[in-house]
Amino acid sequence: MQVFREKQPLIQAIQKIKSDGKSLGLVPTMGALHEGHLSLLKIALKECDQVVVSIFVNPTQFDNAEDLQKYPRNLEQDLELLKKVSDSILVFSPNPIELYGEKIYSQHFDFNGLESVMEGKYRTGHFDGVGTVVKHLFETITPDKAFFGEKDYQQLQIIRKLTEMISLPVQIIGCPILREESGLARSSRNERLSSQNRKEASFIFEILNEVNRLFGTESADYITDWVEDKFRKNKHLKLEYFEIADSDTLKKIDQKEKEKQYRAFIAAYADEIRLIDNIALNN
Ligand code: PAJ
Repeated sequence: MQVFREKQPLIQAIQKIKSDGKSLGLVPTMGALHEGHLSLLKIALKECDQVVVSIFVNPTQFDNAEDLQKYPRNLEQDLELLKKVSDSILVFSPNPIELYGEKIYSQHFDFNGLESVMEGKYRTGHFDGVGTVVKHLFETITPDKAFFGEKDYQQLQIIRKLTEMISLPVQIIGCPILREESGLARSSRNERLSSQNRKEASFIFEILNEVNRLFGTESADYITDWVEDKFRKNKHLKLEYFEIADSDTLKKIDQKEKEKQYRAFIAAYADEIRLIDNIALNN
C-alpha cells in the first residue's frame, strides 16, 4: 500500500496507472474509518483496476470549530484497516495547505436548491465546503469513477450535480448504507454514543422502516405528524428534521407521483451526537 502526503508524487503514480490503460476509482473519506467506508472500498475494488482512498479532514465543511477540532484522527489505525481489505491501493492523506494552497476557503456553489434543504439548512456553508474539496480531489486524482455512500444521500446528489455542472468526466457511484446489527447506520459518531444511546438509536431505522410501510397508504403529512409524535414520546432522541423528498431533486414531496422515486430522511440528536439516516420508499 502506497501512502502519499503530497500531490506531486501521487499525480506521477496516477499517470503511470493511466498510461498502463488501467481504470482508476476514488473513495473520498475523512478518516476514522469503519465498515461503512470499507464497504465503499470493496465496491470500488470490484469496479476499478486501481483505487485511491483519500483521507482528509476537510476544514471548510465544518460549520463549527469545535466539531472540526474534535473530529477523530488516527491515520495509523485507518491504514491498518485499509491494508486488511487490500494492500495494493493508494492512499492520499494531505495536510490542508497541500490540498488547498495557502488560502483555505470554500468556493460558493449553486446546486439548484439541493444545497439549501435538510443538511444544508442546518449546517451553513457545509455543502460549499464539500463541493470545494471534492472538486480539488477530482481535479488532482482524475478518477474514472468515484464512490459515495447513500448514508449521506444529499451529499451524493450534490456531487452528481457538481460533476454535471463542471463537466468532469467522472462517473459517480452511489453505494448502499451499511448498518450495525441493530439497524443503526454505521458512522464514526456511533463510537461516541453511550451504550444506552447506541441501543436506543436503532429507533431511527425502525421509524424509517415503518415510514416505508405507511407510505403505501398514508399521506406525507400524516406520516410526518406520526414521526414527530413518535420522537416526542422518545426520551433518548430529539428529532431535528424529518422529510419525505423526491430522490432526484430533494424537493419536499407535494403530491405522490407514480413515476417518481422518493426517500425519507431523518436527522436526530442522542445527547449532543447528531445522527442522520434515510431510506428509499417503495411507491
Ligand atoms: P466521511 O464522513 O468520512 O464519509 C466518507 C464516505 O463514506 C461518504 O461517501 C459516506 O457517505 C460514506 N459512508 C459513511 N458511512 C457509511 C455507511 N454506514 N454506509 C455506506 N457509506 C457510508 O462524507 C465525507 O466523509 C466527506 O464529506 C467527504 C465526501 C470525504 C468530503 O470531505
